[in-house]
Amino acid sequence: MAISDKINKLKSEKQAVILAHNYQRPEIQDIADYVGDSIELSRRAKAEKDAEVVLFAAVDFMAESAAVLNPEKKVLLPCVGSKCSMVQMLTTEQLRLWKRRYPKTPVVLYVNSLAEAKAESDVCCTSANAVQVVDALDAERVLFGPDRNLAEYVAEKTGKEVIPIPPQGFCPTHILFMKEDIEAQRREHSGAKVAVHPECSKDVRNSADFVGSTSQICRYANASTAKKFIIGTEVGILHKLRKENPQKVFLPAYGGAICNAMKLTTMERLYQSLKEERTQIIIPKGIANRARRALTRMHDLTG
Ligand code: 13P
Ligand code: SF4
Repeated sequence: MAISDKINKLKSEKQAVILAHNYQRPEIQDIADYVGDSIELSRRAKAEKDAEVVLFAAVDFMAESAAVLNPEKKVLLPCVGSKCSMVQMLTTEQLRLWKRRYPKTPVVLYVNSLAEAKAESDVCCTSANAVQVVDALDAERVLFGPDRNLAEYVAEKTGKEVIPIPPQGFCPTHILFMKEDIEAQRREHSGAKVAVHPECSKDVRNSADFVGSTSQICRYANASTAKKFIIGTEVGILHKLRKENPQKVFLPAYGGAICNAMKLTTMERLYQSLKEERTQIIIPKGIANRARRALTRMHDLTG
């Protein structure tokens, strides 16, 4: 039996649902029940009322958020090594120090963060709603981490003071994009539209026609009348873009922009994970309860 058939058989036996991030390998996206960005996956995990098992083809923080928001479900991460590097850039101890330094300043945490850190925060955000979340807060100054570029983007869009914590948190994949590469591609492909993720540097964001989360980039490309696009985010998204728009051309702004953590999920690992129901993500109750407050507040503020 083909591995995809084995996965599908187990999936129905176990009442499981497979959620995959837009950066996953093409074959993982194809077998998933749903493919989306961080906020969509988080909403979807909750909406899957009949699912007993949620197999999260993504990275650690996404599966953790699903486990925090759905304590009654078994959330599985196929490969425990699928760790987003940015998450590790803000420890809970560091966060507590920042809070002591700015006692009355709300803490907005990008979901790409530790569950313990979320538990110390006032509200979470994703790249899709960071501007909306900070806008909605009754404060002119916020602490924001761990991504410095997203913090800067939010400051530009809201006009508020956004203090990046730590000062230099970054995504190792998105810092690889260079405005010079984008300019060269624009010269080569005249008329092409450029869409990038807010984790990119200011220079790169300023050289783009559109800045948004991975799914916002997909929606932008789907709605646009342009025929060619240069994409400044992890290359896994190209599969979805091409599948949804076979008549359009999608080029990576930099072909080496690969998130290794996302690529650790293979069909074999997905199958083994579902078969053996591992690795279940379990967040200690005290942390989960406090992290849930910050995640729920994000959902409440953004609808
Ligand atoms: P999205 O929420 O836009 O999918 O981004 C998640 C991420 O990790 C980007 O690098
Ligand atoms: Fe984390 Fe960057 Fe990978 Fe996104 S692309 S999961 S921010 S390491």
